[in-house]
Amino acid sequence: MQRVVIKLSGSVFKQPFDSNYIKSLCESFISMLNDGIQPIIVSGGGEIARSYINIMRALGADETTLDEIGISVSRLNAKIIISALGDYAYPLVPTSMDEISLALTSGKIVVLGGLYPGHSTNATAALVAEKSNAFVFINATDVDGVYTADPKVDKNAKKYDQIDTKTLFNLVTSSPIIAGSYDLFDPLAIKIIERSKIRTKIILCTPQNILNSIKGVSVGTEIVIK
Ligand code: UTP
Repeated sequence: MQRVVIKLSGSVFKQPFDSNYIKSLCESFISMLNDGIQPIIVSGGGEIARSYINIMRALGADETTLDEIGISVSRLNAKIIISALGDYAYPLVPTSMDEISLALTSGKIVVLGGLYPGHSTNATAALVAEKSNAFVFINATDVDGVYTADPKVDKNAKKYDQIDTKTLFNLVTSSPIIAGSYDLFDPLAIKIIERSKIRTKIILCTPQNILNSIKGVSVGTEIVIK
């Protein structure tokens, strides 16, 4: 069975939850399964994770504890996707690579959150794509690709249709790596897709974009290995 890893941005879980949107994303995952492709979904932590992280940091928690809180919330978000998928989903949220391997043998859609402190769910998703030999890694997020600058801040920012790993690395290494602060993509995720030459796309998270990017239709930004 071919596999695809889809990282769902934390923005999918923004408040108030949009059940129709979540349902429509899940329908696209089910249609892949019907086409003989096993989706592996990695849920981000989003604003709820950041909210917990911010209050606990203000109260003196250390960064590893804050990472663990982010992981816990991303796993709660994974539970939402599992509920929406019903019997199409493996019922448990794997918490290690071994558990992911075991879950994949079910042939069902596997849904997880974060795995290790000090990572983002993007890096986790890249590792899972590597481990599961996924034919494509889709980063479904709240912007329609990679821009020369943050398009929410800079109106003159231009979108890349393709970006090489070196340029992307330079773009993202200016941000700090503390709990809850990872942006679009992080250096570790880039290093992993580079070393295993994983086909990777960053797209706006809609069911149609996800399905199109699996079919090879050009959407979002494709990361070119350099
Ligand atoms: P995310 O990486 O999902 O943050 O995890 P996010 O802001 O929702 O990102 P997008 O929008 O999906 O891209 C939230 C926090 O959980 C911790 C980190 O602190 C991260 O910032 N985390 C998550 C880990 O430490 N390890 C993981 O494997 C995943």
